[in-house]
Amino acid sequence: MTYSKIAGTGRYLPEKILTNFDLEKIVDTTDEWIRTRTGVERRHVCADDETTSDMCVAAAKEAMESAGVTADEIDMVVIGTTSPDLIFPNIATLVQHRLGIPACPCIGMEAACTGFIYALSTADKYIKASEASCVLVIGAECITKLVDWSDRNTCVLFGDGAGAVIVKPSDEPGIMSCHLGADGQYKDLLYYPVGASNKLEKAGTDEAAIMMSGRDVFKVAVSTLGDVASDTLNAAGIDKEELDWLIPHQANIRIIQATAKRLDLPMEKVILTVQDHGNTSAASVPLALDTAVRDGRVKRGQLVLMEAFGGGFTWGSVLMRF
Ligand code: COA
Repeated sequence: MTYSKIAGTGRYLPEKILTNFDLEKIVDTTDEWIRTRTGVERRHVCADDETTSDMCVAAAKEAMESAGVTADEIDMVVIGTTSPDLIFPNIATLVQHRLGIPACPCIGMEAACTGFIYALSTADKYIKASEASCVLVIGAECITKLVDWSDRNTCVLFGDGAGAVIVKPSDEPGIMSCHLGADGQYKDLLYYPVGASNKLEKAGTDEAAIMMSGRDVFKVAVSTLGDVASDTLNAAGIDKEELDWLIPHQANIRIIQATAKRLDLPMEKVILTVQDHGNTSAASVPLALDTAVRDGRVKRGQLVLMEAFGGGFTWGSVLMRF
C-alpha cells in the first residue's frame, strides 16, 4: 500500500508584529484581558502591499528546501485559505506560476480555519490514488485585512502567516487517517458578510468585517474538536496514550486546554503557538507543525494528531507518523 508522508515543512510570518500593548492603544482592551481570555500575546500582520500569495511563496520555498525538492518535481498544489489575493484565478495557480512549478492541478480550498486540514487530506487522496507524486500543500491567511480594527471582540484574536508542507508517497505511514466534517447550520456564528455574488458593494466599508458569536463558537469548538480527535484515534485503533503530539488549531488557549482535557492529554504533549501568532486561521496548524519540527520537538517516526475547526462550521483531523 502507498501512504503519503510529509517530506518537509516551512513557514512564513510577516515582519510587522502587533503586541497586546499595541492593541491597548487602538481599542478599549488590556494585555491582561487578551492573555487570560485567549492566550494571545502578539500576532504578525501583513504590510499593506503584502498578499497571501507572497506568504505562500516564502513558506513553500522553506518547505521545498527542507524536503529537498525542486519546483519541477511538484505535480500538484493545494492551498487552504479564506483570504486569497483574487476571486480568480485561484491562489494555487498564482503560487505555482511564481515558483516555476510546471503545469499541474492547482486547487484553492476554502474551509476557513480548517483549510489546511482539508488541503492535506486532498493531497493524501491524490497520492494514494497514484495521481500525484509530490504535492505542495499550504495553509495561509491574510486575515487581518478582513478584521474590523475598531471591534475589540474580534480584532484581538487574529494574525497573518503561512505554513507549507511537501507531501510525497511512502511505503510506510505517513498519514494514517484523515477525518473531515462540516455543518452549515452554524453559518451565522462565524462569517464574513461579503462575497463575489453577495453584497460586493460593501467591500471596503465598515460593514465588511468578520462577524462572530464568540461564546457560541467557543462551545461548539470545544465539543467538536474533542469528538473529532477521539473519532480519529478510534478509527485508527490508536490509544490516546500512544500519541506523541497534538497539534491543534491555535484559536484560543482555553479551547486548546479544554480539548486536551477531554483527551486526557497533558499540555506538555500539545504544541502551542497561539501566544506568538494569534489565530492565523488556515495557517495555524502548519505554522505550529513547522515551529515544532524546527525546534526539535516533533521528530521523525512520532505519532502526531493535527486538528482544526473553523467557520461553517468546518472541522477536520489528520493522524500521522511524522
Ligand atoms: N478586551 C476587553 N474586554 C472585552 C474584549 C476585549 N478585547 N472583547 C470582549 N470584551 C468584553 C465583552 O464586551 C464583555 O463585556 P460585557 O460583559 O460588559 O458585555 C466581556 O468582555 C465578556 O465577554 P465574553 O464574550 O463573555 O468573553 P469570553 O470569555 O467568552 O471571551 C472570546 C471572548 C471571544 C475570547 C471567547 O468567546 C472565544 O475565544 N470564543 C471563540 C472565538 C474563536 O476561537 N473564534 C475562531 C474560531 S476558529
